[in-house]
Amino acid sequence: MKIPVTRQRSESLFKTALTYFPGGVNSPVRAFRSVEGSPLFMKRGDGCYVWDEDDNRFIDFCCSWGPLILGHNHPSIYARVMDAMSNGSSFGTPTALENELAELILSRNPFIDKIRFVSSGTEAVMSALRLARGFTGRNKVVKFEGCYHGHVDSMLVKAGSGLATFGTSSSAGVPESYASETIVLPLNDETSLRDCFERYGEDIACVIIEPIPANNGLLLQDASFLKSLREICTDSGALLFFDEVISGFRVGFNGAAEYFGIQPDLITYGKILGGGLPVGAYGAREEVMNCVAPDGPVYQAGTLSGNPVAMAAGIAQLTECAKDGFYEDQQRRTELFVGAINSHSREKGYNFELVTIGSIFWLSFDGKKRIQRADQIDSDMSAFSALFSALLSRGIYLGPSGYEVGFISNAHTEEVLSHAIQAFCESLDEIFA
Ligand SMILES: Cc1ncc(COP(=O)(O)O)c(C=O)c1O
Repeated sequence: MKIPVTRQRSESLFKTALTYFPGGVNSPVRAFRSVEGSPLFMKRGDGCYVWDEDDNRFIDFCCSWGPLILGHNHPSIYARVMDAMSNGSSFGTPTALENELAELILSRNPFIDKIRFVSSGTEAVMSALRLARGFTGRNKVVKFEGCYHGHVDSMLVKAGSGLATFGTSSSAGVPESYASETIVLPLNDETSLRDCFERYGEDIACVIIEPIPANNGLLLQDASFLKSLREICTDSGALLFFDEVISGFRVGFNGAAEYFGIQPDLITYGKILGGGLPVGAYGAREEVMNCVAPDGPVYQAGTLSGNPVAMAAGIAQLTECAKDGFYEDQQRRTELFVGAINSHSREKGYNFELVTIGSIFWLSFDGKKRIQRADQIDSDMSAFSALFSALLSRGIYLGPSGYEVGFISNAHTEEVLSHAIQAFCESLDEIFA
């Protein structure tokens, strides 16, 4: 059922925000530049729902871009956070809560021996790249076109020309000399990878990849490609770096490393780890982590690292995630949702499919199904924009960009999902009519 989305208060708040912040926002994708209208200002979330400042209610599939795997305002996160807060918000000293979160993770995770908590995914990647360079004594980093690793200078690069190319900066303010330490390769292309290592292998500190690339559509990789990556890194002495800021605690408690059965040398986490508060982390085997200050020569620090309130939120969230059957149930409900929408789309002959893994889904148009490389994405996002608006008017909120994935949380019950399926089917009928 369609309901008009009134935006008076959101529009007025946005007008004011434009006078305070570049583009009116504190992170660019929030600006609604690739969809119609101005951003919705949210004021409340509960379970799978969010309410905006004009009191419109939406089923939320953005889930704060991934962290909220239990939905909004989960009672155990709320209770732990309030308890931690009542004892003081920050000390700048070690606390027992850091040990508790580390224990929760490391006792279940066979891929890392030690971990360091930081305050964002970007900070985790930046720190882990420094560690890779410090540990190996090498400077070059290989990344893949289409993977996003936060706004670290050396990761804001795109491929130049040629097969195995040094990157050129993709943001003003990133010196070409930084970008040139990054080699950018196409995803899922073993030949380019081998060529690159033949030429530069001895200088490569690490290969960083989102093992489940989910920032430019959902570019599901062949497991054989990821396994080759492991072998090639081992042969050349480069570290294999899985950036699991999205996939960590999402496709299973131990993320993509566990999903594919591949041992990386470095892993970064973020999003779900912090239960909706700002936490990132990097981890590795003991020998690598021993290079980090104060044990070793690689410097990294943070005033609010391991913040007790954020740790408490992470502990509450991961305790739920670690329960038996949590991920199986997530996957079952996601498959139900995706399956129903895809069969409607197939029956009607629409050029649309939801691509999925774990409890992540991506809206794929124009036959671009199961693409594996960034250059296969259609830059025309007009169909996404139309579907976004049609869904919004039926009470469904997605992240406002066709490059981004959607997330299903524990709070998206079968009943809620059946409403969402109906809204998707009606919206598809409307835009493809
Ligand atoms: C794979 C990956 N790495 C790193 C980051 C950066 O994390 P943050 O936004 O917390 O800095 C993101 C953010 O979306 C991400 O998806």
